[in-house]
Amino acid sequence: MTADQAVRRDTGDAGLAARAAAVLPGGVNSNVRLAASRTFFERGSGPRLWDVDGNEYVDYLLGQGPAFLGHAHPQVNAAVTAAVSRGMVFGAQHALEVEAVEKLLAAIGWADMARLGVSGTEAVQAALRLARAATGRRRVIGFAGQYHGWLDTVLMAHGPDGPRPGSAGQPPEYLADWLITPFNDSVALERQFSAHPGEIAAVILEPMMCNSGAIAPQPGFLERLRELCTANGTVLIFDEVVTGFRLAFGGAAQRFGVTPDLAIYGKALAGGWPVAAIAGRRELLEQFGTGRVNHSGTFNASVMAAAAVSSTMDVLRQAPPYASVEEHGGALIDGLRELGHRHGVPLNVHGLPAAFHVSFRRDGAAETTVVDHATLQSLDLDRYARFSRTLARHGIWVAGRGIWYCSAAHGQAELADTLERFDRAIAADAADGARAAEAPRQREGQS
Ligand SMILES: Cc1ncc(COP(=O)(O)O)c(C=O)c1O
Repeated sequence: MTADQAVRRDTGDAGLAARAAAVLPGGVNSNVRLAASRTFFERGSGPRLWDVDGNEYVDYLLGQGPAFLGHAHPQVNAAVTAAVSRGMVFGAQHALEVEAVEKLLAAIGWADMARLGVSGTEAVQAALRLARAATGRRRVIGFAGQYHGWLDTVLMAHGPDGPRPGSAGQPPEYLADWLITPFNDSVALERQFSAHPGEIAAVILEPMMCNSGAIAPQPGFLERLRELCTANGTVLIFDEVVTGFRLAFGGAAQRFGVTPDLAIYGKALAGGWPVAAIAGRRELLEQFGTGRVNHSGTFNASVMAAAAVSSTMDVLRQAPPYASVEEHGGALIDGLRELGHRHGVPLNVHGLPAAFHVSFRRDGAAETTVVDHATLQSLDLDRYARFSRTLARHGIWVAGRGIWYCSAAHGQAELADTLERFDRAIAADAADGARAAEAPRQREGQS
């Protein structure tokens, strides 16, 4: 069955949801997935997914970003399979890890050295440790609404009263060294530096915010941030876990023309395989090499990881997908906006073609320019979260928080299918809304 047929098969995931709920807390293995519908996928290929009930989806979640080349990329998977047939972890060095890091450094262009790890979360910890060791300071500036992993030292919820721990069981004092400021606000940033002279070890940021909205830096913001860090002896850390290899081969640093001191990569770095990297200036990274700063991990630069990075770098260099991602994402943004107008639905789409955000304006609200976490909150994010389930029922797989990621594998067929399915999803949503409004009137009529 194809998703172009209006009715999709729904057999309850062959009982998997009940089995999962019995053995996995919340039925999932990552809390990020708690909010999504419990869909069980059987396979992914290129830009599409198939669930265990046989329904097909165009995928704009891409595993939260890693499947930038599309699912199951044949060249990357063949390279990993061939490499691991000769062993997977040696607890020692191998040629592939050198090759992988050489290619990674050549891609990003500005960094001297890098280390490979497994997750973005741990690479962030390594970067903060390097910055604190190099500066002898503790404080870190971060930005409201940004995400740097799930560990105690970085996880925050950002409400109107400022940041607070993002989880029960998280000691609040672990966040005591953070100074949180709005993204895209150079004046607020300057104030933080002036209020804490000689105290700030690092500024860490998603150079384009993709965990709240899809908010590109405003002209001059990253440049001013760079100046302030240099003037204050502060280490500038770009968390490029989402933007790396996605916004350009050299990530956000290349796309926006501003060079950090350290950067963290993950997701699109390895064609879907679980690898992260920390890259940066020699004098910072060398602190690992001398043993002064500890960075360890049994699975760091496993044969699988190194092969996946090396091969992904080859694919991105040999057939750069950036023009086609730009074209697909741009056409999709235009098409979605057009559908919003046609249906009289207050759709808000912002961001860049490679990563954009879809939501709704609140009833009667004017067009909103989203520049930071606070302006994002003016949108009706809950309505979109509900609508994302309608999209899933119509064969479009997206995150409930509004982000859409385009991949190298999305083409004309996906564009046409997506716009057609989105059109039907909006119509179905409107019909559901009308039915819901009608029901109380009917009840009143009966009483
Ligand atoms: C910007 C950013 N940093 C860090 C992380 C953590 O990476 P991981 O989930 O690989 O631990 C994420 C995950 O989504 C992220 O988006």
